[in-house]
Amino acid sequence: MKPFDIVVVGGGGAGLYAAMEAMKVNPSLNIAVLSKVYPNRSHTSAAQGGANAALANKAKDDTVDMHIFDTIKGSDYLADQDAVEILCSEAPRIIRELDNIGTPWSRMDDRTIAQRPFGGAGRPRCCYCADKTGHTILQSLYEQCLKKGVFFFNEYFVLNISAGGSKSRGLVAMNMRTGKVEAFPARTVILATGGYAKMYWNRSSNAAGNTGDGQAIAYRAGIPLKDMEFVQFHPTGLRKSGLLVTEGARGEGGYLVNSEGERFMKNYAPEKMELGPRDLVSRSIETEILEGRGFDSPAGPYMHLDLTHLGGDLIKSRLPQIREMSMYFEGVDPIDEPIPIRPTAHYSMGGIDTDNDGRTVMEGVYAAGEAACVSVHGANRLGGNSLLDILVFGRITGRTAAEEARQFEPDEIPSSEVSAIEEELREYMRPSGHYERYGALREELGQTLAQNVGIFREKSKIEKGVKDLAELKERFQHVRVFDTSDVYNTNLMQVMELRNMLDLAQTVAAGALAREESRGSHTRTDFPVRDDEKWHKHTLCTWEDGSPKLDQKPVTMGKYELQERTY
Ligand code: FUM
Repeated sequence: MKPFDIVVVGGGGAGLYAAMEAMKVNPSLNIAVLSKVYPNRSHTSAAQGGANAALANKAKDDTVDMHIFDTIKGSDYLADQDAVEILCSEAPRIIRELDNIGTPWSRMDDRTIAQRPFGGAGRPRCCYCADKTGHTILQSLYEQCLKKGVFFFNEYFVLNISAGGSKSRGLVAMNMRTGKVEAFPARTVILATGGYAKMYWNRSSNAAGNTGDGQAIAYRAGIPLKDMEFVQFHPTGLRKSGLLVTEGARGEGGYLVNSEGERFMKNYAPEKMELGPRDLVSRSIETEILEGRGFDSPAGPYMHLDLTHLGGDLIKSRLPQIREMSMYFEGVDPIDEPIPIRPTAHYSMGGIDTDNDGRTVMEGVYAAGEAACVSVHGANRLGGNSLLDILVFGRITGRTAAEEARQFEPDEIPSSEVSAIEEELREYMRPSGHYERYGALREELGQTLAQNVGIFREKSKIEKGVKDLAELKERFQHVRVFDTSDVYNTNLMQVMELRNMLDLAQTVAAGALAREESRGSHTRTDFPVRDDEKWHKHTLCTWEDGSPKLDQKPVTMGKYELQERTY
């Protein structure tokens, strides 16, 4: 195959924005998007609530500075302040650019873009398209990429970064339709594969495919991962499936109510109530459950999200998907009854360490969106800053790669590298006396993470998680794929995803064990206080003979001093 100038891995918002922008910078570039699913089915389509931007349409006194401060405070002061400044300053332009390419933003009566309140934000600044924001953004970006001549390789599973010394030569990926392993030589590669929170299995709002494939191949290629221990639990996942009930439901006025009929958030965040930041609201729900004020059910304990007082008209116009999902997955119509919810693993604050332009330490490899850690979210991301991150840093990274691509000479990917990977895949299909099955390992991975490296963490539990993960990795050596066909061998793909999740889960647990403090989403019951002296630092994690090696990196400060975080 002729080398591409840029191969983007991932057809979600970050990947598509990067491809669109790169084409804009230099229309003569040869750009491909390689995606595990069809781009309009990528996980961005599940983003419901919206994207923050200080447009000051709803609250006339909102400013970019307020957005910056809310984001830094929300991050529990672990975000890099220069990166946050870029995120928030670029936000209004990004929202307008999407408006120009056809994203159907919801409007206020004066026809300006509507904004709703979101957690941890001092002003209502979340721009939305009812409760289908990500879905509509994705369609707009996909159309633009097709129009501009981006090549799409859909249903390709990325397996490896081919590295020649400190420079990438491109990628090796499997065509899921044929089972063929193919080389994608490329001057530059952008990893935009989304997050890794599906490792928590059914305690996750994530799509089945959010298995951290980009982070895992970067990690195994020697690129450091950053702040992997910070996994966000969204307060309101549906009780049985973990699927997302948007924060927009609380932004529109929904209440969280315990089994005593009390709006318990008054005891945890008296000012912000249900619109406290996610880490705080999730901990509050779990505390209520632990102290016996939750509801019980065969599907586990839960809490009520009550929208009944909002009325049918508002629910049908602004939260139609939430109504549909509640009826379909829980048998509850939120117009008449509260929705059963429980916190659900939702977002990976950690990811591939990049600079503010999307570069990693490996020449020619860039990362953007949830796969990356710039870091703009620190220890806890604010709702509505994720879509913003993929758009702003997708754009910046696409621009950087476009400007730098032609500086790199294209290089062949040795055929021996492709054959070695083919052989490795075939090995999973060879019969063996003692074997393990994917399903059991997959479920045990989710369970040990949820129990030992979940919302509340402590030394002995995390150590149990570390031990379980080591055993699971050992058992993974014996995993066998019983489907030996080439065409859509989903069992083989699941095994590859499991391998990625096991490697990344070890980085999450290692970071969680080392960080002896509580900050943002990382709550150590044995170290309940934030310890700025020792831990106001990013964690870096590098692959060393198959195990995570930890290091630290300073946080970039700006004008905002460290402060106690109260809401
Ligand atoms: O609650 C939500 O709609 C999720 C938004 C986000 O994660 O930013």
